[in-house]
Amino acid sequence: MDLLKNIKESAKKNKKRIVLPEGTEERTLKAANKVLSESIAEIILIGNPDEINNLAKQHNLEHINKATIIDPLNHEKKNTYIDLMVEIRKKKGLTKEDAGKLIEDPLFLATLMIKNGDADGEVAGARNATGDVLRPAFQYVKTAKGISVVSGAFIMILKNTKFGDDGLMVFADCAVHPNPTDKELAEIAVATAKTTKAIAGIEPRVAMLSFSTKGSAKHEMVDKVVNATKYAKEMMPELQIDGELQADAAIIDTIGKKKAPNSEIAGKANVLVFPTLETGNIAYKLVQRMADAQAIGPVLQGMAAPINDLSRGCSVSDIVNLIAITVTQTTGN
Ligand code: ACO
Repeated sequence: MDLLKNIKESAKKNKKRIVLPEGTEERTLKAANKVLSESIAEIILIGNPDEINNLAKQHNLEHINKATIIDPLNHEKKNTYIDLMVEIRKKKGLTKEDAGKLIEDPLFLATLMIKNGDADGEVAGARNATGDVLRPAFQYVKTAKGISVVSGAFIMILKNTKFGDDGLMVFADCAVHPNPTDKELAEIAVATAKTTKAIAGIEPRVAMLSFSTKGSAKHEMVDKVVNATKYAKEMMPELQIDGELQADAAIIDTIGKKKAPNSEIAGKANVLVFPTLETGNIAYKLVQRMADAQAIGPVLQGMAAPINDLSRGCSVSDIVNLIAITVTQTTGN
């Protein structure tokens, strides 16, 4: 299965502008060069132009001259962005002076470029921690219509093809929102179903996971998942979703039939929605390591425009892949 190859091919057909706020970071610059050489996206690099050009020369990155370079300290739209920041955050007490300082931070500048329609998506995180990448995005790009929480999905490619669709599954939330309410969990389920269709290219069959299957245990944590399932159906009536289900009932046909005989999802799920971030994060890492699965992500979902966060240990090809995924998100939703 060459999902990433398909994602790159699809990105090439849609010329989208991806802003990279860590333009002076070596792996990011190498990834930008590769993206430009393969025409996967148009690239906007934020950083000191001399530093970027010198690094490009030093590493023979001959395609960097096709990128647009924005100096965070000195560019023509600085005042436009400052005004936009104050307009968006004046209720939070943001002054023009504070905005003037923040806009020099590439992570803020990138989100303002998106908000102002000057870029379509962002990839960052090779140098900065998750919270620092996400906070400006939450504040200025904000969530998509009908969604109040951002979450992170992983596309899991399993060696054992009897799970999901030929081994392809999507897990969420594994990256962002520590303890969602029932309504937030419903939003995470809906957003994950959309990611599954847009990025993994499969029809979602969503299992809302718990330590209980169809009333086998009684607890407020079970109630949360039952309510979330109900709210998700209200939000998206056509969604194939069921819960609460234990993990084995969700993915093993014989167990699904035994524990939830009337469920159309039990035993057949290709999307697993976890009740909390700790369960989702632990589960994806265990499956990745113990089953030697490929984990692509986190793909951030629920944002008004796609912004994705890299792990600081990422490789050049991780960055290239995430840029291609980000382009696909701009067109797939
Ligand atoms: N979705 C949308 N908006 C959000 C979310 C969310 N999930 N979380 C916070 N916000 C908004 C808030 O409403 C607030 O907006 P406002 O300023 O307009 O009022 C703003 O973002 C800042 O909110 P805080 O609560 O101050 O957010 P904080 O900075 O404390 O935390 C963060 C946000 C960093 C995402 C936090 O939830 C976090 O650390 N999550 C875990 C991330 C993590 O460590 N993941 C695991 C590692 S990743 C991996 O293993 C792949």
